Amino acid sequence: MTLAVIVAALLLVTAVSAKEPTPVVMWHGMGDSCCLPFSMGAIKEELEKQVAGVYVRSLEIGSSVIQDTLNGFFMPIDAQVEEACQKIAADESLQGGYNAMGFSQGGQFLRAVAQRCPSPPMKNLITFGGQHQGVFGLPHCLGTKGVCEVVKKLLDYGAYESFVQSHLVQAQYWHDPLKQQQYVEVSQFLADINNERDVKNETYKENLNKLENLVLVMFSNDTMVVPRESSHFGFYALGQDQVVVPLQQTPIYTEDYLGLKQLDADGKLTMLETEGDHLQFSIDWLVENIVNVYLK
Ligand SMILES: *[C@@H]1O[C@H](CO)[C@@H](O)[C@H](O)[C@H]1NC(C)=O
Ligand SMILES: *[C@@H]1O[C@H](CO)[C@@H](O)[C@H](O)[C@H]1NC(C)=O
Repeated sequence: MTLAVIVAALLLVTAVSAKEPTPVVMWHGMGDSCCLPFSMGAIKEELEKQVAGVYVRSLEIGSSVIQDTLNGFFMPIDAQVEEACQKIAADESLQGGYNAMGFSQGGQFLRAVAQRCPSPPMKNLITFGGQHQGVFGLPHCLGTKGVCEVVKKLLDYGAYESFVQSHLVQAQYWHDPLKQQQYVEVSQFLADINNERDVKNETYKENLNKLENLVLVMFSNDTMVVPRESSHFGFYALGQDQVVVPLQQTPIYTEDYLGLKQLDADGKLTMLETEGDHLQFSIDWLVENIVNVYLK
């Protein structure tokens, strides 16, 4: 090969790779799994249709769809996040960075990935009906009858009991505004990832601020997430469970536990709202508001 041919080949490779779209990592919600054709599978397919050549990885926690579904209820979230970090780090197609889409609890789980595992870099994080300040209530359990009976028994026993904390995913983001001190002390996942413990982790702030955009989607008619404003990082004013205040009036923002003030000031924190119940959005809405804006 002559030098000219080599240079031409290199230029071609550069041109092709420069055009490659940013890959996407998705994380499903409670009762769902990586790959059902009418759920995550349909969204993956739509992304592949809309963004030519995009690589989409829908995370599977465990090594089968059944395990993945059960892990969404019973595998400690820290271990799930660790597994997600390892899978992302080991995926050659993601090494240049990726955009992330988290559905329901997958939203706060992917935020934990951003905060704990900065490499490869997450660029845009979009969460749909996430529970960033947790939930105080679980009106609907999206699982089989057997699983949901266990979930109910555990929550009735007490979300902050150590046995329940260690075994139930939903207890690890249970946030009782009447028991804030207990929550801060015992919540295995959420109080940590929201930097609410006495000792703050500066790395969480730094890493979250590496995002190009943090986009939070709330469903105006969500009957699943209590309070639904948790999808926008809002929550009950502490000490009662009637009045909900926006993120900007909660300590996470006013005391700046997570560096969200900076993201906000930089115009990188976006709150979107769409009509409909939990995760009820149309493909047209998704394409217009998310795919065309953040994924192309
Ligand atoms: C802060 O978070 C990082 C990333 O997860 C972790 O490696 C580190 O040990 C944490 N530091 C403290 C003080 O907890
Ligand atoms: C959502 O709630 C609003 C206000 O409560 C109501 O006007 C609207 O019809 C509801 N939309 C759907 C799709 O249920």
